[in-house]
Amino acid sequence: MKLLITGGAGFIGSHVVRLFVTKYPEYQIYNLDKLTYAGNLANLSDIENAPNYTFIKGDITDAKFLEDMFAEIPFDGVIHLAAESHVDRSITDPMSFVMTNVVGTVNLLNAAKNSWQANGAGGTSAFDGKRFYHVSTDEVYGSLHNPDEFFLETTPYDPQSPYSASKAASDHFVRAYGNTYKMPVVLSNCSNNYGPNHFPEKLIPLMIHNIQTNKPLPVYGKGENVRDWLFVVDHARAIDTVFHKGVLGETYNIGGFNEWKNIDIVHLLCATMDRKLGRPEGTSAKLITYVTDRAGHDLRYAIDANKIMNELGWQPSLQFEEGLEKTVDWFLANQEWLDNVTSGAYQTYYQGMYANR
Ligand SMILES: NC(=O)c1ccc[n+]([C@@H]2O[C@H](COP(=O)([O-])OP(=O)(O)OC[C@H]3O[C@@H](n4cnc5c(N)ncnc54)[C@H](O)[C@@H]3O)[C@@H](O)[C@H]2O)c1
Repeated sequence: MKLLITGGAGFIGSHVVRLFVTKYPEYQIYNLDKLTYAGNLANLSDIENAPNYTFIKGDITDAKFLEDMFAEIPFDGVIHLAAESHVDRSITDPMSFVMTNVVGTVNLLNAAKNSWQANGAGGTSAFDGKRFYHVSTDEVYGSLHNPDEFFLETTPYDPQSPYSASKAASDHFVRAYGNTYKMPVVLSNCSNNYGPNHFPEKLIPLMIHNIQTNKPLPVYGKGENVRDWLFVVDHARAIDTVFHKGVLGETYNIGGFNEWKNIDIVHLLCATMDRKLGRPEGTSAKLITYVTDRAGHDLRYAIDANKIMNELGWQPSLQFEEGLEKTVDWFLANQEWLDNVTSGAYQTYYQGMYANR
């Protein structure tokens, strides 16, 4: 099995690469990543010398590069995670989301299709033994307003931000290639992830970092927005399950049945950090600062993960409180990682995003 994983230097991708490299020594794992601000090879320093691992620096918006790569390496499978992934950045720069998330995904579909058709038997049997797995988000379903409602695989798409619109478009292209060319595709849509290596522009690592450095904790609006949180290693385990057991043409929603209001998470993090840092109870909560809400901020996301649980046997392994403890411990033990990713370009971004809110 020659397996291409895109976006493997990012947050979720690095956990997926690590899982596949260590669990499947008989596979050759190729990690293709452009190394944008969100890509960091330090995330993979523990497995970078594994004999079954190869890193390829490249950009999925470059169709020629992808065609050449597929001509050189006969991949059997693709797990596609490379994306621009931050909603706030999509509001200030939607076009880079169109380029990577939409055009990049179609480039990758074309490269896989063309190489599999060129090297395989004729007709649809060219795709025998191949698999193209597209990793997506629950944000494509839009926002829930009724507390009894959950996102099902059949929920109509209703993306509300440039990020979710670009992911929705990429999902549609993947399904269209499955339908039109009979490509062997499978998809999953997952809820919010958290855990080690999370880039500190996202809620949980941003709060951990700011509590640690005694900076204001910027909470959007009133902090009422609800998200369903899953430990990143459990998402990587789900991706392993879907890649190996998922039925071609199907979509699987992935989530932990674990809904939290943003403000409740921030309070839980404040209490956890006060305890870990030996600060008097209530110290960190004083840093909470309410800032102007994100434009078009979706109120609630909640995944119904029964299909993957019942049909493929996947279950999350960690309760949220345990996962959050592990996450805080990881950030406190990896100060150098945090210092590296919060220097330079990120500081400029941070000032632009929060300084005048
Ligand atoms: N983070 C979440 O909570 C979450 C939840 C559900 C689904 N997802 C999806 O999972 C995937 C990974 O998310 P993440 O949070 O790890 O993202 P991330 O931003 O941490 O990582 C994205 C990676 O893609 C790479 N990349 C970006 N543009 C590229 C390009 N043009 N060519 C090649 N590589 C490029 C980056 O360098 C980075 O390593 C995304 O597709 C995202 O939509 C994320």
